[in-house]
Amino acid sequence: MIGFTGALKRCVSPLLSFVIASLLASALQIFFFSPISDPQPLTLPLPSPASSFLPSNTDLQRVNRVAEGFLKNPEDVCVDKKGTLYTATRDGWIKRLHRGDGSWENWTMINSQTMLGITAAEDGGIIVCDTEEGLLKVDEDGVTTVLLSYVNGSKLSFADDVIEAGDGSLYFSVASTKFGLHNWYMDVLEAKPHGQLLRLDPYRNQTSLVLDNLGFANGVALSKDQDFLIVCETWKFRCLRHWLKGESQGKTETFTENLPGGPDNINLAPDGTFWIALIQPVREGWGFVHTSKAAKHLVATFPQTINVVSALRRKAVVVNVGADGKIIRKLEDPSGKVLSFVTTALEFGGHLYLGSLNSDYVAKLPLTDVA
Ligand SMILES: *[C@@H]1O[C@H](CO)[C@@H](O)[C@H](O)[C@H]1NC(C)=O
Ligand SMILES: *[C@@H]1O[C@H](CO)[C@@H](O)[C@H](O)[C@H]1NC(C)=O
Ligand SMILES: *[C@@H]1O[C@H](CO)[C@@H](O)[C@H](O)[C@H]1NC(C)=O
Repeated sequence: MIGFTGALKRCVSPLLSFVIASLLASALQIFFFSPISDPQPLTLPLPSPASSFLPSNTDLQRVNRVAEGFLKNPEDVCVDKKGTLYTATRDGWIKRLHRGDGSWENWTMINSQTMLGITAAEDGGIIVCDTEEGLLKVDEDGVTTVLLSYVNGSKLSFADDVIEAGDGSLYFSVASTKFGLHNWYMDVLEAKPHGQLLRLDPYRNQTSLVLDNLGFANGVALSKDQDFLIVCETWKFRCLRHWLKGESQGKTETFTENLPGGPDNINLAPDGTFWIALIQPVREGWGFVHTSKAAKHLVATFPQTINVVSALRRKAVVVNVGADGKIIRKLEDPSGKVLSFVTTALEFGGHLYLGSLNSDYVAKLPLTDVA
């Protein structure tokens, strides 16, 4: 017996010391090597978000898959005046869908894995946000030039979405001045506002700051009359309205808030309303991760856990919002069975086109099929 206890003691104390040492080491690693600093608690959407009067549904499970297998993570789509639809893919292509014969074309190779928001330019071609290169212009012949890569002497990084106004100005968002595309979720965990809205005046070649301190500045859209601009703040679960004309010119106010997800890209619909894709950075039942500093450091240090604590790949939600900011319609795939991580919704020709960071196709939904 004595011999056994002695052996146990000899065995337990090294084991205990090992466990304690490991715990200490992880704690040290977590607090000293965590990529985030002094994270702030996130204000989560209320249990009854702004859309709670709308019934839950499975509308997004009824989409058609367009060009399946040929479009790697199409984050954004846009359509030009001729009705040609464009998307930028994660393998570096701008691919386009011709309206006439419905054929897809591998249009031009940009050779970049970091393209996000795109928009059709007035003079033909498209403008692309590249989180590493800055703002790119691809002309009608598919020739690419860099429009802007430095702002105030610093490299423009994490340009996220862009829209061109009638006066030629390009309004674009910088999601985060601290983090990049590869570690964007750190910005959500740190929850300090590093986002910006900028304006490039292409004639004077000048860039000015329109709004600062945004909570992950994402989608940008202009109203039908271009009297105001919307910018989405993903981890604030809201979008802001910035007035460009009229008596409120220069003023900024909340456009829509308490959204059932983090707003990503926003697109103007033909009737003057907006479609907003809502990503799911917070998983139901895991909100505590976003209010505890220790949990934030833990997730930041072990980013493999992001797919556990978020619902990015578990759900898809898009909303249709009126020019007054009120939610009109909500379309969902509540289990992510068909679609998840939907980052854009664009209405064109009676259909909704949806891009996602978790699909190899663009999804298409006839709007006559949904309530
Ligand atoms: C277009 O690109 C995809 C890969 O991204 C390739 O599989 C396909 O064959 C290409 N199509 C044409 C017509 O070149
Ligand atoms: C615009 O200004 C930037 C510096 O701010 C400069 O690098 C760039 O070449 C200029 N572009 C044109 C077209 O003049
Ligand atoms: C450039 O720097 C000036 C001076 O610090 C500042 O006022 C301005 O807002 C900056 N512009 C941008 C686009 O960040």
